[in-house]
Amino acid sequence: MRDAATFWDGIAERYAARKVSDPETYELTLRRTAERLRPGDRALEIGCGTGTTALRLAPSVASLTATDLSGEMIRIAEGRAAEAGAGNVRLLRAGLSDAALDGEPYDAVLAFNLLHLLDDLPAAARRIRALLKPGGLFISKSAALPSPQPLSFRLIRLIVPVMQALGKAPAVVFRPVTEVEAAIEAAGFSLLATEDHGAPGRGRFIVAQAV
Ligand SMILES: C[S@@+](CC[C@H](N)C(=O)[O-])C[C@H]1O[C@@H](n2cnc3c(N)ncnc32)[C@H](O)[C@@H]1O
Repeated sequence: MRDAATFWDGIAERYAARKVSDPETYELTLRRTAERLRPGDRALEIGCGTGTTALRLAPSVASLTATDLSGEMIRIAEGRAAEAGAGNVRLLRAGLSDAALDGEPYDAVLAFNLLHLLDDLPAAARRIRALLKPGGLFISKSAALPSPQPLSFRLIRLIVPVMQALGKAPAVVFRPVTEVEAAIEAAGFSLLATEDHGAPGRGRFIVAQAV
């Protein structure tokens, strides 16, 4: 298996060309996220991909540092930010554990479609907690296994290893929703909201506050 940055670099152009698969659900997630942000916030997005979501949320905050492990994703996001004239968005090639993210703690950390790609979620949640001010928000949406597990998920779990062997899917960890939420709480957060955006398991939306 290639490393994550190489995988995402390799598919960045195709990812950028993809249409949002469920626009209604995407808008719901944007709306719910924007409701939690404040105009004075300094926000950080991890795993921002091609920057589409960062550019939509930037008007809700004072500044948004949008970061991604993949240099190709960041290159595309930079082009989009320049085109949009987004003056309060800073793009940075950096993984979650990168020291470049350290410094003054943030009011909000955002992560969309990322948590199921991280192999050590408890460590990632602790790292995100360390990047936030006390009272700051961690807002995420990612795939997680609902209970009971629908047939579609059983099929996905059979198909993904084949796709991975062909280099067409990244490493994915299928964690139960309960495990994701417990890892976030254990890292020093209290959960303010947990919602299913789209079919259960496809997009678990979580708002967690740093205690
Ligand atoms: C499924 S894409 C999601 C992109 C965007 N957030 C979205 O919702 O369209 C996952 C992104 O996370 C990035 N990524 C994967 N592991 C990462 C890590 N450890 N730190 C930062 N970014 C990471 C990948 O490069 C990729 O751009």
